[in-house]
Amino acid sequence: MAKIATNTNHVIVKSALCLLPPLLLTVAFYLHFQTQLSIFSPVCRCASQPAAGAGAVEDHVVDRLRASATFLPLKDTRQGAETWFLSTLNATAEPEGEARNLVFPSPASAGRLLCLAAPSRHDGARNAYALAWRDALPRGAALLPGLAFVSETAYDHTNIWHGLTSLVPFASWHARSGCRARPARWALFHHGEVRTEMSGWLAALAEAATGAAVAIETFDAPGPACFEEAAVFRANVAGMNKERILRAADFMRCRARAYCGVNASSKPGSGGDDSGLRVTLLFRTGARAFKDEAAVTRVFQKECRRVAGCDVAAAHANNLTFCDQVRLLSSTDVLISAHGAQMTNMLFMDRNSSVMEFYPLGWEQRAGGGQYVFQWMADWTGMRHEGSWWEPVGEPCPDNPDILDCWKDRQIGHNETYFAVWAARVFAAARERKRGNAVGDPAGGRSREATVCRCS
Ligand SMILES: *[C@@H]1O[C@H](CO)[C@@H](O)[C@H](O)[C@H]1NC(C)=O
Ligand SMILES: *[C@@H]1O[C@H](CO)[C@@H](O)[C@H](O)[C@H]1NC(C)=O
Ligand SMILES: *[C@@H]1O[C@H](CO)[C@@H](O)[C@H](O)[C@H]1NC(C)=O
Ligand SMILES: *[C@@H]1O[C@H](CO)[C@@H](O)[C@H](O)[C@H]1NC(C)=O
Ligand SMILES: *[C@@H]1O[C@H](CO)[C@@H](O)[C@H](O)[C@H]1NC(C)=O
Repeated sequence: MAKIATNTNHVIVKSALCLLPPLLLTVAFYLHFQTQLSIFSPVCRCASQPAAGAGAVEDHVVDRLRASATFLPLKDTRQGAETWFLSTLNATAEPEGEARNLVFPSPASAGRLLCLAAPSRHDGARNAYALAWRDALPRGAALLPGLAFVSETAYDHTNIWHGLTSLVPFASWHARSGCRARPARWALFHHGEVRTEMSGWLAALAEAATGAAVAIETFDAPGPACFEEAAVFRANVAGMNKERILRAADFMRCRARAYCGVNASSKPGSGGDDSGLRVTLLFRTGARAFKDEAAVTRVFQKECRRVAGCDVAAAHANNLTFCDQVRLLSSTDVLISAHGAQMTNMLFMDRNSSVMEFYPLGWEQRAGGGQYVFQWMADWTGMRHEGSWWEPVGEPCPDNPDILDCWKDRQIGHNETYFAVWAARVFAAARERKRGNAVGDPAGGRSREATVCRCS
């Protein structure tokens, strides 16, 4: 259904584009004919300079069309943060339940392309956009070939978690195109300001998901840039329903595994040991690292030994490549990690895998809703967030009464009793679930999932 809708759109867009030159010609000839009739003597003038006359009038019309492209501020400060980007244009969710988007050229844009005059990296109100027909682009504009993914976010493309929320709708869009719509370029904005950086992890995931290396438009060339085609998402996943987010997460997981050559046939699914339990400690270095990694490792190893077929792996996120992370989490059933960006790797676990999260003192008391992002993410990606441990006590900072400021990036201690009881519960349940799956699906659902990514 989605595929058909997309194709139809393309056909309409193409027809609109094809109709444009004849339309312009008709207008030109009509004007020409009018001119002949009303002002000049039909016979002699016609004979004297027919082609030049038609060409001149046509040029004249094109000139008018060029001049009619009106540039408006990219960030409309009369609007709130959710609607100030391309504020005069309505985004639509097509099909229902997808993130709201704008497509150029399209019937809604009357076949016009999106042009951006965007030199400012500091003030979105100084950047501008206009719509223009391909054969009447504004003076001095460059036509950038291929499809552009235009992403406006109130957050940040260099932050892995926030960047992921802006990537999800594009990945879904790409999948719905039958995996044919590959971005030739990305145009990144924050509050209408040009951004030229994306975190390496996110760029690797974008490349894996869309099949095209990420090229970020810098808008350094003088004059406006008009995109041959553009898909714009300006509010991350806003409008996207749970089912479609889950489906997009499945797609990205599958594409990332394929991109990294994660081998389905070497998984336990085909080896008959699908009930084994793979526990991964993904450590941070510096801010929010565990004070005593060895002691933490011992607690979980001890609980793991009580579960048949259980195995603990430990790694530091900071010295793993993107594909190392995909590989490691692809073979993880329980992720144990302190609150932080490395947790976004939960995306690569099989669905229904478990996450255990840890915070320093202060977060529970003062960090507010934002500290639950990885609970939301578990929900989006089909994982089970098994709870969090907040460090309960600590010395106050003498010169900083704010408990969060004082503690948020400090190292995290541990409570052996608590960790052991918690781990025993999570490990036993996870193993039961896996065993249930293995019985119900002896071929291993995992191997099929990893070899066929749904491009539809
Ligand atoms: C956008 O949609 C709203 C509500 O559907 C409508 O009232 C408005 O006229 C539309 N604006 C444009 C520019 O199409
Ligand atoms: C996957 O595993 C099989 C068997 O172990 C091996 O023959 C094949 O080369 C592997 N493929 C990749 C991409 O690693
Ligand atoms: C990874 O990083 C940790 C901490 O920075 C370090 O102790 C460990 O030796 C590193 N491992 C490798 C394989 O580089
Ligand atoms: C996840 O677990 C639930 C039961 O807890 C089960 O109904 C569901 O089918 C599982 N999903 C997958 C994708 O394995
Ligand atoms: C450690 O956890 C146990 C079990 O929840 C609890 O009874 C105990 O008070 C905790 N110890 C410390 C020092 O917080």
